[in-house]
Amino acid sequence: MKVKENWLKKGFVDEPIENNIDLKIAIKNLCKEKNAIIMAHYYQNKDVQEIADYIGDSLALAQWAKNTDADIIVVCGVNFMGETAKILSPEKTVLIPDLNAGCSLADSCKAEDLLKLKNQFPNHKVISYVNTTAEVKALTDICVTSTNAKKIISQLPKNEKIIFGPDKNLGGYINKTVGVDMKLWDGACHVHEQFQLSEILEMKKKYPNAKILTHPECKDEIIAISDVVGSTQALINYSVENDYNEFIVVTESGVIHEMKRLNPTKIFIPIQIQEDGIKKCNECKYMRLNTLEKIYNCLKYNYPIIEIEEEIRKKAEKSIIEMLKLS
Ligand code: 13P
Ligand code: SF4
Repeated sequence: MKVKENWLKKGFVDEPIENNIDLKIAIKNLCKEKNAIIMAHYYQNKDVQEIADYIGDSLALAQWAKNTDADIIVVCGVNFMGETAKILSPEKTVLIPDLNAGCSLADSCKAEDLLKLKNQFPNHKVISYVNTTAEVKALTDICVTSTNAKKIISQLPKNEKIIFGPDKNLGGYINKTVGVDMKLWDGACHVHEQFQLSEILEMKKKYPNAKILTHPECKDEIIAISDVVGSTQALINYSVENDYNEFIVVTESGVIHEMKRLNPTKIFIPIQIQEDGIKKCNECKYMRLNTLEKIYNCLKYNYPIIEIEEEIRKKAEKSIIEMLKLS
């Protein structure tokens, strides 16, 4: 079917959906018919996590994308995750339900600006967080995720000069814990950057026995008072691997769905954020754009498709392969 003007404008397929359809069953049927799989990040809405064939953090999604033998991969996350899947599986069709699913980190680092910095510091290695565009990955020596960043950077010679981007908080955390002095890009995640130390201390007063679980995209002062700092997967693992019963979860609240599934009797307290006097649960506005309706339509009409220029893809692939080798 021809891509309609309206889809291009909106960034997703907005065709009406048949009445009385059970969307979860219909999506499963389409997947079977088209040999498609659905991969979802832990920050997806509960409904989306429930229909996914694979749920994981950004490292796991990249690894699954490389190894699947499906013909179509539907990536329910944000654009850079769809691009990572396409970079690793160029022969497959990679769909994402809504092209508006950006990322404040990826958006903060434009390839032309990174190129300028690279030219200014030609003897520096460029290490980029996976939350970057394909064009930025193409300028990168080694890609990392929050799961493997410390491990990979610890393996480099101590005197290696490094530009790290785009997350200044994750970069600062690695500088401190690994004992390196990387030049940091000035980017941050719109979700994690908003958490306030005062708010967390307030919650700790209310729940004195709760362990504070924090993603390294949070500010330094929050990391300093946390019991555990780790990637989405590391935080989930911690919630399972010990006997503590209460956790203050200082990251996107979608992760609590998996934590509760694995620990039905434990208590997980999400961080709330204050916005114009309204308490709001902390959700990534990009991740949460994906809905069952958009997933159904993208599978049915094969749109939006991720496409990457081959020259860029090949260069970007090198940085991800390097990461998979070292992690
Ligand atoms: P993970 O690498 O922990 O999945 O994090 C991805 C992300 O976007 C965090 O905000
Ligand atoms: Fe990007 Fe932050 Fe959303 Fe993760 S939570 S996708 S880093 S904006």
